[in-house]
Amino acid sequence: MSAKKRIAVLPGDGIGPEVIAEAVKVMEASGAPLTLTHFDWSAERYLRDGITVPPDGFAMLARDFDAILLGAFGDPRVKSNIHAKEILLGMRFKMDLYANVRPVKLLDESLCPLKNTRPQDVDFVVVRENTEGAYVDAGGVLGQGTADEIATQEDVNTRKGVERILRYAFELARSSGRKRVLMADKSNVMAYAGGLWQRVFKEVSAEYSDIAPSHMYIDALCLAMVREPRQFDVIVTNNMFGDIVTDLAAALQGGLGMAASGNIHPGRTSMFEPVHGSAPPLAGKNVANPMGSILTAAMMFEHLGLATEAQKINSAVLEAVRQKRTTQDVGGELGTREVGDWIANAVSPPA
Ligand code: NAD
Ligand code: IPM
Ligand code: MN
Repeated sequence: MSAKKRIAVLPGDGIGPEVIAEAVKVMEASGAPLTLTHFDWSAERYLRDGITVPPDGFAMLARDFDAILLGAFGDPRVKSNIHAKEILLGMRFKMDLYANVRPVKLLDESLCPLKNTRPQDVDFVVVRENTEGAYVDAGGVLGQGTADEIATQEDVNTRKGVERILRYAFELARSSGRKRVLMADKSNVMAYAGGLWQRVFKEVSAEYSDIAPSHMYIDALCLAMVREPRQFDVIVTNNMFGDIVTDLAAALQGGLGMAASGNIHPGRTSMFEPVHGSAPPLAGKNVANPMGSILTAAMMFEHLGLATEAQKINSAVLEAVRQKRTTQDVGGELGTREVGDWIANAVSPPA
């Protein structure tokens, strides 16, 4: 019997708690050996006592847990979005979770908005750099509110940061039996940052003779992703481009309600979350699609070495999609809880 995996659960705001409750239901039904600990870091908590991340919160997560499962952050009552910045971006940066891995997999033809597109046509992974780029919060404003106002937002790219994310993409390709890695940038315009990415990509790709490297400008990639998604295998790009392109990619899978992700630093406590946000208009209505969170839980299980349970969950979600046991955003008629119940039942060992 393997040791129990210690999971920190942070449901967050809006639909976060609803979809995470279903992911938890399914994880528990799978019979995986787990101890779950819930944390209330959220807009609600921040509005109550002004705390976003308790003192030493990230050190505690790294020390006491094997993985973290997150819902979503964002609440109309917190206009500054300071809590999301401190909790979500804080976790990515301060825990150095440098690889944001976002699988893009079409489970059933009925979910894809493109004509004549089958599951085998949409099956790739986006590796998004997660600790640098335009997200570093460097910049400033001069002459705010005046006609001469100047705002700068810096895009910071380090040699070490670029190298490790590119290497991660090649290693992921190798370990998952994929054959191609495409790097996307805007080096035709942003020549300093793009130049670094180009040079390092050339160097790193030369070490992986079994993997075919290629390049596209990020704007061309958006076009190609819609016109011919089957050409992609592993895509690696910077933080901001990765953010944008994974919402587009989510649409190919049936929408944000279907998309899973992991924020990973190999060998350290890593964090898993659905790609979608807190969708405030859907909150409290039992309509949010929990499949993104449930697939995220499966991804976390896979990362923790619980491959059998991960496989069971992925198969159950696939079967739920095929039988249209889904929420309305993907064409079904069930509520959030009912989808969770169906999948939990499907992964439960026979009584
Ligand atoms: P969103 O992902 O919450 O919603 C975008 C669209 O997708 C909406 O139409 C929404 O109804 C739909 N959608 C999202 N998740 C869904 C689900 N599970 N089931 C069915 N439909 C779903 O993005 P937004 O509206 O741009 O942002 C809302 C808030 O969430 C903002 O505060 C934003 O900053 C935050 N946000 C947080 C995260 C995160 O915590 N990881 C990610 C994105 C956005
Ligand atoms: C995502 C989200 C976040 C990001 C926001 C909420 C900070 O859009 O995880 O894709 O931009 O990374
Ligand atoms: Mn995003």
